[in-house]
Amino acid sequence: MGFVTAPIDPTTTSAWSRLSALRESFTPDLRGWFAADADRTRDLTRTVGDLHVDLSKNLVTPEVLDALVALADETGVRERFADMLRGAHLNTSEDRAVLHTALRRPAGAEPALVVDGQQIDHDVHEVLDRLSAFADRVRSGEWRGVTGKKVTHVVNIGIGGSDLGPVMVYEALLPYADAGIHARFVSNIDPTDISQKTADLDPETTLFIVASKTFTTLETLTNARLARDWLWAQLAEKGAIDDSDAARTDAVAHHFVAVSTALDKVEAFGIDPTNAFGFWDWVGGRYSVDSAIGLSLAIALGPDVFRELLAGFHTVDEHVASTPVEQNVPVLMGLLNVWYTNFLGAQSHAVLPYAQQLHRFAAYLQQLTMESNGKSVRWDGTPVTTDTGEVFWGEPGTNGQHAFYQLIHQGTRLIPADFIAFVNPAYPRADDGRDVHGLFLANFLAQTKALAFGKTAEEVEAEGTTGALVAARTFPGNRPTTSIFAPSLTPSVLGQLIALYEHITFTQGTIWGINSFDQWGVELGKQLALQIAPAIEGDDEALAAQDSSTRALLDYYRAHR
Ligand code: F6P
Repeated sequence: MGFVTAPIDPTTTSAWSRLSALRESFTPDLRGWFAADADRTRDLTRTVGDLHVDLSKNLVTPEVLDALVALADETGVRERFADMLRGAHLNTSEDRAVLHTALRRPAGAEPALVVDGQQIDHDVHEVLDRLSAFADRVRSGEWRGVTGKKVTHVVNIGIGGSDLGPVMVYEALLPYADAGIHARFVSNIDPTDISQKTADLDPETTLFIVASKTFTTLETLTNARLARDWLWAQLAEKGAIDDSDAARTDAVAHHFVAVSTALDKVEAFGIDPTNAFGFWDWVGGRYSVDSAIGLSLAIALGPDVFRELLAGFHTVDEHVASTPVEQNVPVLMGLLNVWYTNFLGAQSHAVLPYAQQLHRFAAYLQQLTMESNGKSVRWDGTPVTTDTGEVFWGEPGTNGQHAFYQLIHQGTRLIPADFIAFVNPAYPRADDGRDVHGLFLANFLAQTKALAFGKTAEEVEAEGTTGALVAARTFPGNRPTTSIFAPSLTPSVLGQLIALYEHITFTQGTIWGINSFDQWGVELGKQLALQIAPAIEGDDEALAAQDSSTRALLDYYRAHR
């Protein structure tokens, strides 16, 4: 099961040679291409699930697209997807399967997935059912705090993949929160975070979820201890508990649950294992929002919403596994990113949702894409042969229009951008008889149009502008965008969007020969922080061991505290 083939160097493929040759004479001309081909939009529009994906405003000709499809074939993208889905140990550096797709397989899917002797489907659904039942108990008020009150707030304590997914989905699906339970998310070890997020909470109605795959993460365990101290102190202040061990243990049992792959460590922290929800080492942190890490979502939004989210993921999993490359949306989008990164020199990629509900989507994607593909060695330990991982970034429109779009429209850098929009709003509003969401969508359409087709000097002059202002008011166009449109931001559609980007990321990683599922690059900083902490606390030996710059900064710290 563990066998993984050696990476194929993409630069040695004939498709890469074709792309290099095409690049030599490549002159982007979206105006010309649209004028010459009335079917361009039809030919370059794809669908996956509820997502209508218009690729036509990308800088591709049929020849480029053809060569990109060949690149996917020559680098074995479809085969790698098949390997992932069957449970091959694609995470070579940790010798693990990569099976986040198993988290969203429907109950009873055939044939049953058995990997490394584990009955995957059985175990996934056992946890999902327990999690749903627990969420229902909290939502109905059957689960109560230590003083008998119903939970009104859940506070998820986690970081990275144990935070970014849940907070992003919670914000996106807030209109579905129907049980009067609010979720908050504490991630940063900056004590501001937990202090502000608990400041107005009632300890009697607060349930903490400690979410950590490893249950060793410094930030999360520190915040969990701070939360526990806060709970004990606040309950004691209200006279709800005394300071006996028994009372404190009882308080934790009523106000703390955990999600982790390390259930022994959960117990050591003092959380009753019956109040813990597990997952497995074959779920990467940044791929874990659809595991028990989504417990805060199941509580605040409801288990049905959570299951609908999972069904959305699964729709895209099925598409990616069974659709030829020419029609395969995640693979095509990954290939376009390779074209921009490796042939047209793009270094970043903007994701611009026209949906305020998706205001944390770019932050979520930053971990997904950059922790996955920010690598310079391949899965066999040899150096990569091309540039890898773009910088992903973004903000919801229209806010970004009034901030950084200037650079995308008229700057010197090529920034491919994904625009994401929904036909129907969560909150329909009218202003002076006009549908505000319609005005919002007009901006989405206007921006993608302006970026693609620009405004020529002649058009500017025709409006009466003269002299130096003509150049300033000219828009070059040929700024590539993909438009992703869906009827509404439902739980299923959100699951589809997340899975779309997971598989885009995997496509790119595969072409570059990268293991997209480890993250060794975060380790050094963690180790050094532990070494430096004693110097902060006054240990002169630890101070002396630092380099001169770090020492000077520590001196500054000591002088000013
Ligand atoms: O440090 C990076 C990282 O390992 C991420 O990959 C992960 O999502 C995050 O830390 C949190 O880890 P854990 O869930 O084990 O606390």
